[in-house]
Amino acid sequence: MSETGKLIVGGQELELPIITGSENEKGIDISKLRANSGGYTTLDIGFKNTGSTTSGITFLNGEQGILRYAGYPIEQLVENSSFLEVAYLLINGELPNQGQFSDFTSSITQHTLVHEDIKRFLDAYPERSHPMGQLSSLICSLAAFYPESLDPHRGAEEVDKTIVRLLAKMPTMVSWIYKRSMGHPVVYPNNSMDYVTNFLNMFFGLPTQGVDVDPVIASAMDKLLILHADHEQNCSTATVRVVGSSHAPLYAAISAGVSALWGPRHGGANQAVIEMLKNIQADGGDSQKWMDKAKDKNDPFRLMGFGHRVYKNFDPRALLIKKSCDEVLEKLGIHDPLLEIAKKLEEIALKDDYFIQRKLYPNVDFYSGIIYKAIGFPTEMYTVLFALGRLPGWIAQWKEMMTERQPIGRPRQVYVGPNERQYTPIKTRV
Ligand code: CMC
Repeated sequence: MSETGKLIVGGQELELPIITGSENEKGIDISKLRANSGGYTTLDIGFKNTGSTTSGITFLNGEQGILRYAGYPIEQLVENSSFLEVAYLLINGELPNQGQFSDFTSSITQHTLVHEDIKRFLDAYPERSHPMGQLSSLICSLAAFYPESLDPHRGAEEVDKTIVRLLAKMPTMVSWIYKRSMGHPVVYPNNSMDYVTNFLNMFFGLPTQGVDVDPVIASAMDKLLILHADHEQNCSTATVRVVGSSHAPLYAAISAGVSALWGPRHGGANQAVIEMLKNIQADGGDSQKWMDKAKDKNDPFRLMGFGHRVYKNFDPRALLIKKSCDEVLEKLGIHDPLLEIAKKLEEIALKDDYFIQRKLYPNVDFYSGIIYKAIGFPTEMYTVLFALGRLPGWIAQWKEMMTERQPIGRPRQVYVGPNERQYTPIKTRV
């Protein structure tokens, strides 16, 4: 017999089904709660306890620091796979065989160009506009170039084309945003290069000369993209699913995901970490002083790159990135004092009661910025790189939501505003 839970509410006892996931995670199914309880709803601000969906894409266990894409441990994927293979896995649920993979990569390669008018959009942005804002609006504007994507009931082949276009055009748009911000001419995609090398060439090259992309850097970049590729129902992914659930076009849903990722509590933390480390360095490098600020409840400062809603022991992505950070800096012969400050902060935090009690550990954003800096990316582009990595996850989650024909995402509320009152003319108001 399947497990159930009991809830006594409004003087009646309700039996609630328990949904058990494939990793034995338990969820109390409250989908009939309002109907069966005479109107009671649940309240969980910030969704700290609320599952918004079942999902077969990514599993993470925050207590044990486990992260798996479609069952494959992140450590194995980072070691053996490539970003495009992981993208295929997330979107299709299985690793591709040779034929499937070469079809997938060649279709992506064929769609790397973007409409020339995209350059005119880029020219119109003020010089100081943040690349995340530009990326979000460029992705949304793709719907204008591909109006057939507006039809939520189009066939699977058409949907696949939109997915391929997104994956193919994202590196081009990201690089062009940077080029325009520098006043440099854009570099066109080179379809003889692999995904990551092509991206680095467009980003760091010039039309007059390409760059010799260091394989060490290309490999580190590929690993970083894999590590960011999906993370179940986080803020931006939940946003993508909710926006997509209204049957807005996929481009609009992904654009909304980029906007959600932008904030410093989410993907924007990677930019904020480097800015924080630079501030600490400029302030004389007194790590303890900044740790005290982070603990002071009257100070809005938080230790950026620390803490996570789900990970309460360690973030496996942070461990892998820290290792990669050491390797990249060593291979490039770079000594970055910011890395020393970061390590010192981590050392202090891991022994500090405040951080121990609240289970705050370095997250994916704590060390990634140091690698991006070593590669030569400007700080404002870091969150855009996170978006580049997260794209296949957003697509996969959107596809799952659409395939399962999930209803529109529309939470309830408990109203706490004024009761009914009568309108008064403005002249009589005090
Ligand atoms: N520095 C200092 N105190 C912190 C921090 C921090 N980075 N993070 C959480 N706390 C404290 C917080 O003040 C609260 O203390 P108290 O219980 O005394 O009020 C307690 O820890 C719980 O924090 P919370 O904000 O209720 O936890 P949350 O699950 O709502 O927030 C978080 C998670 C990631 C938004 C938060 O830890 C944070 O703001 N971290 C810094 C930003 C950051 O690094 N974000 C990247 C997250 S990983 C990348 C991704 O988004 O996927």
